[in-house]
Amino acid sequence: MNFIEAKSYADLSRKAANIISAQIILEPESVLGLATGSTPIGTYQNLVKGYQNGDLDFSRVRTINLDEYCGLSTDHEQSYRYFMNHHLFNHINIDRNNTNVPNGCAEDLQEECSRYEKLIASLGGIDLQLLGIGHNGHIAFNEPNSYFEKDTHVVKLKESTIQANARFFNTIDEVPKKAISMGIQSIMRARKILLIANGSDKKDIVMKSVYGPITPEVPASILQLHPDCTVIYSY
Ligand code: F6R
Repeated sequence: MNFIEAKSYADLSRKAANIISAQIILEPESVLGLATGSTPIGTYQNLVKGYQNGDLDFSRVRTINLDEYCGLSTDHEQSYRYFMNHHLFNHINIDRNNTNVPNGCAEDLQEECSRYEKLIASLGGIDLQLLGIGHNGHIAFNEPNSYFEKDTHVVKLKESTIQANARFFNTIDEVPKKAISMGIQSIMRARKILLIANGSDKKDIVMKSVYGPITPEVPASILQLHPDCTVIYSY
């Protein structure tokens, strides 16, 4: 694993965007695996700047997001599709047909999971996967468990995750209880992984993930086995 210490959130966001920018410049048809949550917002702002100043061209880039809540429509402000449009896609020259987020409102959620798996394969896999990390070590919505979920699957969210995400909703009851998430195998197959962690409250879990035992109880610990994983942190 490569570790990069950032001086601040702004520094972390710039450094992460620089790595993603290099990927896009060197491989204009890259498949980017993207994350939501508060950590990548600054990274996306820097990518938008890169587009605006003429350094980045997203016209041939394809994207695939990690996860989506079940039951929130794409125009719900807390859906991850809305988040991606709002923070990134609306501001760059990406072809919207080349952007992919699981459909959390699909009638048959299992069917949607297999569609998503096939989609990842049909794109030829993920070139660069951006990840955040939850306080319990989750990556995407792969929550601590007794085994690693391999493929895209429906997740029943842990109480701690519901509580952490409640800050984005009016009341905790509005937080969806289920989500669709890419699995650990799909993430680990990405050719490069970039994990970003910001804030002193993430320090313990990052340390545990990168130096502790590899266990599904700390899903991010599996990243120790990835051949090209970079962690950028700012505490
Ligand atoms: C979101 C995702 C989650 C977040 C994690 C950290 O797509 O996959 O695993 O990365 O919950 O969220 P923040 O960045 O809000 O601390």
